[in-house]
Amino acid sequence: MPADPTPATDAATDAATDAATEASTDAATDAAPDVAPGVAPGRFAGAVAIVTGGSRGIGLAIAQRLVAEGARVCITARHADVLDEAAATLPDGRCISVVGRAEDPEHRAEVLRRVADEFGRVDVLVNVVGMNPVFGDLIGVDLGAARKIFEVNVITPLAWVQDLVAHPGLQFAERGGCIVNLSSVTGTTPSPGIGLYGVSKAAVAHLTRTLAVELGPSIRVNAVSPAVVRTVFSRALYEGKEEAVTAGYPLGRLGEPGDVASAVAFLASADAGWITGEVLTIDGGLLAAGGVA
Ligand SMILES: NC(=O)c1ccc[n+]([C@@H]2O[C@H](COP(=O)([O-])OP(=O)(O)OC[C@H]3O[C@@H](n4cnc5c(N)ncnc54)[C@H](OP(=O)(O)O)[C@@H]3O)[C@@H](O)[C@H]2O)c1
Repeated sequence: MPADPTPATDAATDAATDAATEASTDAATDAAPDVAPGVAPGRFAGAVAIVTGGSRGIGLAIAQRLVAEGARVCITARHADVLDEAAATLPDGRCISVVGRAEDPEHRAEVLRRVADEFGRVDVLVNVVGMNPVFGDLIGVDLGAARKIFEVNVITPLAWVQDLVAHPGLQFAERGGCIVNLSSVTGTTPSPGIGLYGVSKAAVAHLTRTLAVELGPSIRVNAVSPAVVRTVFSRALYEGKEEAVTAGYPLGRLGEPGDVASAVAFLASADAGWITGEVLTIDGGLLAAGGVA
């Protein structure tokens, strides 16, 4: 009886697979010795991104990630010193920075003018700027503060989209542009004390879906919705009580800015080419566990 050929075939296949895996691992190691885990070098080669609120926290991590994957970026913020420090973390020629308030139309016009002059195109807009100056129940919230939160968190991302899409030289739609907005899990599940902020972030989620419907097929619009990420902005939510806060997260830790940056890079890339109108939760499992940020 002839021997069963399968084992030999399996062995040959295994050997070939091992050799191929080893070769491709060697090649990857040789080609990109300094590449951080998960980074896809070249995924944004030639592309240009605007990241509002890019001087620290989540915005800076997004800018760094996009640059690591080949993009050139324009980052914005109000404080020049911190913005300069952020820009200095990025390689020469890959970053410009423009100081100003995201909600100021003249600032937006200056950003688009500078980007057009220096890079000549925009492929990605990441609306990171957001604020929450009040703490307390909705029923007692100061309506002036409420209007300001909506101005910065909801109207301003819309204004950036309007200005960018209308810009005659940047050809955002023609390039198949991508927009990523910053929502929050507080827009899904009400969080005590930051209710109005949550309402504004729920509006960002629906702004995202509505823009996706209006701007397709040429422009994709998505959002990320993080739980607590360790930044200056959220410090009051975890400082001095991190162990207790972390207990509600199935993954056993709070988010880091890089956790959000990697999701934004995915949504802004061609890897997400058939995804629009999506609000991607990034929460270490918090909502699945029935938790509240
Ligand atoms: N951290 C979290 O736990 C968390 C969770 C869910 C969602 N988010 C959202 O993620 C986004 C970023 O949060 P983050 O934690 O990274 O905040 P952050 O550390 O406070 O950083 C905010 C960035 O935006 C800039 N900025 C703030 N207001 C601005 C304005 N009006 N005009 C221009 N730039 C402005 C800040 O620089 P300047 O102060 O110099 O202007 C800074 O670069 C926000 O939309 C936030 O709502 C955060």
